Amino acid sequence: MRTPFVAGNWKMNKTVAEARELVSVMGKGLAVINNVEIVLCPPFVSILAVANLIGGTRLGLGAQNLHWEEKGAFTGEVSPAMVKEFCNYVILGHSERRTYFGETDLTVNKKIHAALKAGLTPIVCVGETLEENKAGKTAQVVSTQTKEGLQGLDAESAAKVVVAYEPVWAIGTGLAATADDAQQVHCDIVRKSLADQFGSDVAQKIRILYGGSVNAANAAEYFTKPDIDGALVGGASLKSDDFIAIVQAASN
Ligand code: 13P
Repeated sequence: MRTPFVAGNWKMNKTVAEARELVSVMGKGLAVINNVEIVLCPPFVSILAVANLIGGTRLGLGAQNLHWEEKGAFTGEVSPAMVKEFCNYVILGHSERRTYFGETDLTVNKKIHAALKAGLTPIVCVGETLEENKAGKTAQVVSTQTKEGLQGLDAESAAKVVVAYEPVWAIGTGLAATADDAQQVHCDIVRKSLADQFGSDVAQKIRILYGGSVNAANAAEYFTKPDIDGALVGGASLKSDDFIAIVQAASN
């Protein structure tokens, strides 16, 4: 049995003061849901404030990126050990980083290795663009991102990774993938690639999240699907009631 997993990716939203306000409202409602692994991923500058607020609860904390090097002359970057001081998770390879910041399967791969070495759980994002989807390339794109991203991991490390299928066309658009379509990609593409690469026992252990316009109204249907183990939530994770409702749906 895979424990349900819901992460909130705040992206570049909320000042420290706003982050504190959101977590002080949302934290109590989330902390009582005890059968879901829940992770908040604020911007770097709010991580310390959120860590202080959720310390001692079962809520997890994640960063939205890291650099693969341990330290040195990399202006503006944050190392795995710096993230690990406060967090147990890190989102890697988000499509916004691939699109706007030059992230490739190779850099994602280096970051996954570095994150695992630092003791972090990587939440690795994969997903096709609208163009790729329309051209019938979903399987090719998603399986390549999965295989190249996780290249070189041993089975034990691979089992710790969380994969998030986030079709780019569904992110922030309100055009969520249907639960049936997401299930098909999770099962026939992502879990199959993982099984080809690491064997089916490992593939069965890896949590595969769906992300892309998940909201309080549509969340429950995803969680009825056998290969949808949770959600990576953007916009709705910034609204206390909505995020709690999504986590509640994962818990039911
Ligand atoms: P939305 O939930 O806002 O579509 O964002 C999804 C996402 O990119 C989470 O990482």
